[in-house]
Amino acid sequence: MKKTILSLGFLLSLVPVGAQQLLPAPQEVQWQQGSFSLNQPFRLENMPAQSPLAAWAQEVRTGKAGGKKCARIVRLEEWTDAPSLEAYELRVGRDTLLVRAASRAAERWAVATLRQLSDGGKEGVRACRVVDFPQWAWRGAMLDVSRHFFPMSFLRKQVDVLAQYKFNRLHLHLTDAAGWRMEIKKYPRLTQFAAWRTDSTWKQWWHGDRQYVEEGTAGAYGGYYTQEELRQLVAYAAERGITIIPEIEMPAHSEEVLTAYPELSCTHEPYKQADFCPGNEQVYAFLEDVLTEVMDVFPSTFIHVGGDEAAKASWPDCPKCQARMQQEGIEKVDGLQTYLIQRMGRFLKSKGRRLLGWDEIIDGGLGEGTAVMVWRGVDNGAKAADHGYEVIMAPGKYCYLDGYQDAPNTQPEAIGGYTTLEQTYSFNPTEGMTAEQRAHVKGVQGNLWTEYIPTQEHVEYMLYPRLLAIAEIGWNGTAKKDYAEFRQRALTHTNRLRKSGVNAFDLANEVGNRKEFYQTMPHKAVGATVTFHHAYSPYYAGSGDNTLTDGRGGGWNYGDSRWLGFIGGETPLDLTLDLGSVQSISEIATDFYQSGGAWIWYPSAFTISVSTDGQTFRDIYTNGTPIDKQAVSNTAWWTWRGTTEARYIRLQGKCSEPGGWIFVDEIVVK
Ligand code: ACM
Ligand code: ZN
Repeated sequence: MKKTILSLGFLLSLVPVGAQQLLPAPQEVQWQQGSFSLNQPFRLENMPAQSPLAAWAQEVRTGKAGGKKCARIVRLEEWTDAPSLEAYELRVGRDTLLVRAASRAAERWAVATLRQLSDGGKEGVRACRVVDFPQWAWRGAMLDVSRHFFPMSFLRKQVDVLAQYKFNRLHLHLTDAAGWRMEIKKYPRLTQFAAWRTDSTWKQWWHGDRQYVEEGTAGAYGGYYTQEELRQLVAYAAERGITIIPEIEMPAHSEEVLTAYPELSCTHEPYKQADFCPGNEQVYAFLEDVLTEVMDVFPSTFIHVGGDEAAKASWPDCPKCQARMQQEGIEKVDGLQTYLIQRMGRFLKSKGRRLLGWDEIIDGGLGEGTAVMVWRGVDNGAKAADHGYEVIMAPGKYCYLDGYQDAPNTQPEAIGGYTTLEQTYSFNPTEGMTAEQRAHVKGVQGNLWTEYIPTQEHVEYMLYPRLLAIAEIGWNGTAKKDYAEFRQRALTHTNRLRKSGVNAFDLANEVGNRKEFYQTMPHKAVGATVTFHHAYSPYYAGSGDNTLTDGRGGGWNYGDSRWLGFIGGETPLDLTLDLGSVQSISEIATDFYQSGGAWIWYPSAFTISVSTDGQTFRDIYTNGTPIDKQAVSNTAWWTWRGTTEARYIRLQGKCSEPGGWIFVDEIVVK
């Protein structure tokens, strides 16, 4: 017995340190004895000018440079028959450090791995052989710089971090109601006015009077990047293997433009419109002018044009929109969005670029070469692929990093949800897709919307370590998923990031899910039949009709299989439990979720009534809270206690805010 324990200890000591270090994990790695020392002399061999490998070797060298005859070498070779243009191979021994790379980009990723292997360079590079290439060609991160503005120095810092983890796209959400962020020379009001607002936090501004102000006004909040600054960022990122993808929103999310240039909306009223007027020819001139300047600054093949969440509120009553529909044979106003997106797609194509948009754009017939960024249901990926579009998967459920990453009552306010590192890591971008659909998927992206994220420190807190899970999925793929193993590496890297001045969330002190999530709760209504007088939403259908009576508590993720979401009608929550027989009851407790940012509230009015015959009901409990739009995420049990006899229990809940949700989980009856 003792012998077994000893030999197990011996085995554990052989688990290579490097295996716990590399993130994303390489496709293949073999560890060997020893290391390539960086303080013994070595020379560089076969390095072209500006080789990232040469730059790295000179940076981390702690000893003397080796002369011409030095036997220890760092050598670069071209990998001609590599499986991907981003593929590289490392052969590290005591005297040789060989990198074979398929391209300059691949060489950069090899260096990123060498940096992790040497962890700063002090102890040399662990001997190993690595063969590595990415699963996905697009490994992106998005930062919303409209809701809050972040300086160039911060963007460069993020580029540095992204490059360490082999990301190759940084998508900037440059325009939205909260502020326009890119200098456009032809339309100076975009930055003299539409880039500035009255309140420094989005929340205060959005819930206040949402005013824009002139640049230079005392107390104005905002900012923009000059074209020169953006060009420098593009170059800085390119040197690190990262393409910057600009996003200019259309036709919606454009309140700031339509207040600076009200003639571009249907009604020409400042502060009233979010959508451009797709009937107005001037709008296309504006958008083409803007995109021309955008293309001049950003060399990316893809230009993101938004396309999400158009309310189209003014289009049905706008003479120009109506005329356009007639002229183009468009039957429904929705077709105007398609018309605009198609037209911009043709424009971009005529300039040798390709249109990328949020998944709302799927519905129209789009031009060849269009790409879709999926943000809503995962099934939109398959749908976009079926239309023949390229697909980047960034569904909110896994890839939106603005939700709570730990128990909301332990975290700074977030927009809602519960998207832990584990949840992000559990994402499989092509789950349920056919081989043909999978072939259209180009990659994955993590997105950070900044409504509730006013500071640089807070941005980093939300991005890391969850972006590391996106890096792992994007580079290594999903075939070898093992969350416990990944979490160990994420802990190492979270600590490294924190030490290097990146304010990552402290994963080591993660609190975790609600206790209810881990419990099974035996009670009298488990298995009871539930009649829904108002159906639950198909989008938040939990695990179906028995969700509320399955003895399983709801966690912090209201989108999981534990909660039912109700919306619409006079009484969105209206259901009856049938216990099967008349029983003595002393307690009825209902679990509710609230998150103002997600439009989920505790009921504004709530009643529990009971009946022995299913005909005559008697109210035994009422409760309700006023709608608080700024309510942070939380849960509450609303509980009746007393003594009664009943077979039927009816729950009725109202939401006084149109469009508001009520989320319910277990109804515990004792
Ligand atoms: C989005 O989250 N509206 C793309
Ligand atoms: Zn119009």
